[in-house]
Amino acid sequence: MKFYKRTIRDVPIAGKTVLVRVDYNVPLTDDGKVGDDFRIRASLPTIKYLLKDGCKLVLMAHLGRPEGIDPKFSLEPAAQRLAEILGEPVRFVDKTTGEKVRMAIKRAPKRSVTVLENLRFHPEEEANDEAFAAQLAKDSGAQYFVQDGFGVVHRDHASTAAITLKLPSVSGLLLEKEYTTIVGAMKHPERPLVAVMGGAKVSDKIAVIDEFVKVADRILIGGAMANTFLAYKGVKVGASKVETDQDDTLKKIYADAEKKVGKENVDEFLVLPMDVAVGKLRDDVDHRKNVMLADIGTDDMCLDVGDATAKKFADIVAHAKTVVWNGTLGYAEAPAFANGSNMLAEAMTTHSQESIVGGGDTADFVLHWDKKNGDSFDHVSTGGGASLELMAGEKLPGIEHLLDY
Ligand code: 3PG
Repeated sequence: MKFYKRTIRDVPIAGKTVLVRVDYNVPLTDDGKVGDDFRIRASLPTIKYLLKDGCKLVLMAHLGRPEGIDPKFSLEPAAQRLAEILGEPVRFVDKTTGEKVRMAIKRAPKRSVTVLENLRFHPEEEANDEAFAAQLAKDSGAQYFVQDGFGVVHRDHASTAAITLKLPSVSGLLLEKEYTTIVGAMKHPERPLVAVMGGAKVSDKIAVIDEFVKVADRILIGGAMANTFLAYKGVKVGASKVETDQDDTLKKIYADAEKKVGKENVDEFLVLPMDVAVGKLRDDVDHRKNVMLADIGTDDMCLDVGDATAKKFADIVAHAKTVVWNGTLGYAEAPAFANGSNMLAEAMTTHSQESIVGGGDTADFVLHWDKKNGDSFDHVSTGGGASLELMAGEKLPGIEHLLDY
């Protein structure tokens, strides 16, 4: 699928100074090091491309949600990690705009990388302030803006929206890959397309479920979200977490699904667990007990799909041509309740189907599972909210304002 926006390949960018938005919103360890460099690694193709083209790079990003200037949220550790994995020096300026930035970039040679301090130290960033964007453009001395922070393209901020009014703005290679993979799977999938939905809440993912009801051939439901579906169907789910205010939403989902596949096929289209793994308490997470739905006790909590369900899901996935996975199938932080998610990951990576993993918690799980930076999958998204909004068919501000192809 072709991206409808211009990328760094489509403009005469060689030798220019380029302001690049990356998403380096990464976890830090207690001793202030980068705890997970997946997002930093994902920015390498664009950085390497621009360096090869002799550009002077100025990277801008945010980290966390600081209230004003707070050294705990400095991007310096991210800059250090980038230098390690890039194998080249990376300059860091402890300011985002102003004289210090201007001088540092003026002094930086061609083919260099400078990282600016956290954009969110300035309230103007989240306010999508035009004057702040103009300052970023001016102080960086950039001739182009490159959007490659896929994880933030759903935000209407100065570094994603207003900046595009100040500089000719194109996409980086990560954003292009995220967009064409995710939207390609939603619009032109190789079929069967199987969507796997899990995680905590139906209410967080209604728009995505609605979209999959339209485009997927089957939808597998797990995680705490499945409890809400099962309760709606009249199953007694004991002490499990259930969203009690989602009946109207589920009624509509089932009505749309029945319209699409017929009432008699709906349970093979929207596939719920047929058994579950239960635990008694959150702090007693080592004791997994597999039970059929009818045997869920009043003080049981459903914390994973059951063994038969995990096998059934794996089998459906094995016969799919495209699989899109959003949300773990159980309380996967506890190894005893990660079985469903483990089996799904295994099935997605041992067959030839295209395997796409949404960002956020699901990405965290698979990165931990495969221990190869997600290479076992065709695509692991770097964006949580952004990937969900893209799957739901929404137009994202950080993409819309870029130059059209
Ligand atoms: C993310 O981690 O999802 C992105 O970096 C966006 O961060 P935010 O939710 O704080 O805007």
